Amino acid sequence: MKDLLLVTDLDHTLVGDRQALTCLNRTLEILRSRISLVYATGRSLAGARQLQQEESLLEPEGWATGVGSTLLWRGKPDPVWDQRLQRCWDRHALAALLSHWSELTLQPASEQTPYKLSYELTTPRMGAEAHQFEQRLRAGLRQADLQARIVLSSGYQLDLLPMAAGKGAVSGYLQQKLGLQPHQVLCCGDSGNDRSMLGGPWWGVMVSNARPELLAWWRQVRPDTLLRSNRHHAGAILHALDTLPLLL
Ligand code: GLC
Ligand code: MG
Repeated sequence: MKDLLLVTDLDHTLVGDRQALTCLNRTLEILRSRISLVYATGRSLAGARQLQQEESLLEPEGWATGVGSTLLWRGKPDPVWDQRLQRCWDRHALAALLSHWSELTLQPASEQTPYKLSYELTTPRMGAEAHQFEQRLRAGLRQADLQARIVLSSGYQLDLLPMAAGKGAVSGYLQQKLGLQPHQVLCCGDSGNDRSMLGGPWWGVMVSNARPELLAWWRQVRPDTLLRSNRHHAGAILHALDTLPLLL
């Protein structure tokens, strides 16, 4: 059994500083027998694999793509995970409802999956405006008797996922699947779609280049299991591995 589940976002977290990434990869290779590595990204699997090639990323045990809506474990889909997502999820009805929202534009087909419905906001919204938008959307879904997890990132990327999906949910699922305790999990991220995993009952690290929406959340919640690193990109992950009580 491994001693640590390391779940990291890709864009602007693991990827963004080549030198720090090389250094982190070297460290991870040394610790490889003790760590289960998972990439948790908003990208599709194809997009994530492309980035893996471009940036020479290590081969992970798990790919949690589409904002934690698709899980590939050691190269295979996980049927237990897939089954969980089907509950209370009506993608077709959600898309029909939101086709009337003129402020939303559907993202390209390459970004859509059976368990992820993604849009862009025509007018980006930050802070209180983003919050109001989420409230309005939540009310709209309630009125139509539909359920979905709402994930807003960078002020304009909107993902609707089954309630059982998301980066936090997939991290919790993998923690249990691997028989690990929360203190044996480290999640790393920079933006809104990382919030659910950074707010989990395990260790987290937020890069110094975190997006404003993540910083705003951190200022409100300040989880004591979350390291707000003063180092950016992969450097922050190294910082967490060096300073948090992991792999003792
Ligand atoms: C990635 C995905 C996009 C998603 C965004 C935020 O950029 O490609 O579909 O909306 O992450 O989660
Ligand atoms: Mg990111």
